[in-house]
Amino acid sequence: MTTGKNILVVGGAGFIGSHTTLALSEAGYNVTVYDNFSTGHRDACFDLDVVEGDLSDQPKLTAVLKDKDIACVVHFAALIEAGQSVIDPYAFYENNVAATLALLQAMRAADVGHLVFSSTAAVYGNQDVDMLSEDLPKQPVNPYGHSKLMVETVLQTAVDAYGLTSVALRYFNASGADAKGRTGERHDPETHLIPLLIQAALGQRDHFKIFGTDYDTPDGSCIRDYIHVSDLAAGHVAAVGYVLRRTQPSFEGMNLGTGTGHSVREVVDTVKRVSERDFRVDECPRRAGDPAKLVADSTRAQQALGWHAQHSDLDTIVRDAWHFFRTRNR
Ligand code: UFG
Repeated sequence: MTTGKNILVVGGAGFIGSHTTLALSEAGYNVTVYDNFSTGHRDACFDLDVVEGDLSDQPKLTAVLKDKDIACVVHFAALIEAGQSVIDPYAFYENNVAATLALLQAMRAADVGHLVFSSTAAVYGNQDVDMLSEDLPKQPVNPYGHSKLMVETVLQTAVDAYGLTSVALRYFNASGADAKGRTGERHDPETHLIPLLIQAALGQRDHFKIFGTDYDTPDGSCIRDYIHVSDLAAGHVAAVGYVLRRTQPSFEGMNLGTGTGHSVREVVDTVKRVSERDFRVDECPRRAGDPAKLVADSTRAQQALGWHAQHSDLDTIVRDAWHFFRTRNR
């Protein structure tokens, strides 16, 4: 039995983090959230145990890991916008790599040997295949993807050096919201496709811009594999159980996606249909750092974790996100 154990969720007040803390609690784990609230939300911590602190604060993390008798860490705290990483790469290496090393050192000092790490489809970059599987060469096209790949390399070396057991979950495009409306996507500023479209549908933006209509894809816009955040949360619960059950130190990267890609134009049409609202759409130049197509082969996660995406058809994703935004805006 791995449930009943104490889990530290670093960055648990954010979008994917808050859905994961709900799912871990529902699965019977004792959850402590560690967050500096720079981008996360206090009301997304529900009634969980919360410690406010920075990822770079190694002494504080060491104390929390010891005091709370933590068995496994789930690490979400990071800068996440691929486009922004091209503009300000140092910030991404500082937050995503250097500060993560502080967490890893703290785990070592506190003798916590299990980690589930938030990685990304952005580690793959542009590849000439229909679906991305884990063993492809990693060739990120933006500093965000590089920063996550660097941490994966560190985790790999920590297997033999320190006996760390970890899984890096490489998410494709996290989207949707809790079906009960308890939490959802609230970035400020918002840069992600579906929330921006919903804001346009709600009249909070006067138009939406498609970044690039000249990609080598059937309709010229980028293709992504949109995965419901509650499916990602379930993937983390499965990964926590998996690392805690391992009998030998190990590192594995696993994709979490659906295997189905949707173009930006398709997502625009879906938001218009589900919201029953129309809004202006402009065709604009490409955004730097955007690969043309990212679609997951998630066979490894299915086999190792017994995980399958269950809520990730595009209509369900958009409907849940629309419901969350409308409820919040009433
Ligand atoms: N897009 C637009 N207009 C916008 C915003 C986005 O056309 O105003 C397009 C982008 O060009 C891209 C697609 O919508 O083709 C999705 O863009 P997002 O910004 O929503 O997401 P990204 O694919 O850039 O990145 C997201 C996360 C990353 C993660 C990646 C994995 O932000 O953390 O998914 O695929 F690594």
